[in-house]
Amino acid sequence: MEKNINELKEVITHSKRITVLTGAGISAESGVPTFRGSGGIWRNYQVTDVATPQAFARDPELVWEFYNWRRDLISKITFNPGHKALVTLEKHVNDFTLITQNVDGLHREAGSQRLLEIHGNFWEVTCTKCSKVTMDRSQNMGTLPKCSQCGGLLRPHVIWFGESLDPDIIHKAIEASQNCDLMLIVGTSGVVQPAASLAYQAKAEGAVVAEINIEQTPQSGHMDFVLTGPAGKILPMLVEDFN
Ligand code: OAD
Repeated sequence: MEKNINELKEVITHSKRITVLTGAGISAESGVPTFRGSGGIWRNYQVTDVATPQAFARDPELVWEFYNWRRDLISKITFNPGHKALVTLEKHVNDFTLITQNVDGLHREAGSQRLLEIHGNFWEVTCTKCSKVTMDRSQNMGTLPKCSQCGGLLRPHVIWFGESLDPDIIHKAIEASQNCDLMLIVGTSGVVQPAASLAYQAKAEGAVVAEINIEQTPQSGHMDFVLTGPAGKILPMLVEDFN
């Protein structure tokens, strides 16, 4: 692993355009459960009960209970050295984009700015009646929270299964993936589309692709670098010369 890290540091130094894709794994060391694997959220909850528009139409109280649980959990923890290392990297690269599938808001909290939250951010809410999007950092939104403007039912401002991603945001994410020298794929199982295809698009356009994960994924075999270990340890090592 040592050799790989040093080689990747060299690539970082010579890259003018860097794009990073993160998943739940980068927040794991903060204490946020991932979705898959042992202890994963989808072991305890059914996607079809809490993460689809049909689920919300059927039982909004249950869906809000799920999001209130996650709000409560995440309001008690904070970003970790992995998130922080990406802020450092952003400061040292002219053309930098951080694409995240995470809705926990920890990249924002850490200070990342050139950030695309492709699955949304669960600290924001959308009114199902007037479509207004607002930030609300309440630990608990209550059972059926209502819009302060029109009284409509609020929903989390996230993308659920079966919903389309914001076309503008995914367009920017694709562009950043197709136009980079290096793409880092951090803490994602690489099984949810369209995020999972971004690394392949980067590679097809000639970028070096590097995976940082505690275990092998279906994408590992296509990577130029596979760094196996926790993101909170490896990412700080990659940027240590920038501090
Ligand atoms: P997953 O739970 O599918 O995958 C998390 C990945 O992080 C796994 O590959 C783990 O091996 C890895 N991992 C765990 N701890 C790590 C650590 N400390 N350092 C590095 N890697 C670590 O989460 P995602 O890939 O983010 O979508 O899932 C993608 C999407 O599926 C989510 O955005 C969510 C989910 O259903 C929606 O809700 C729409």
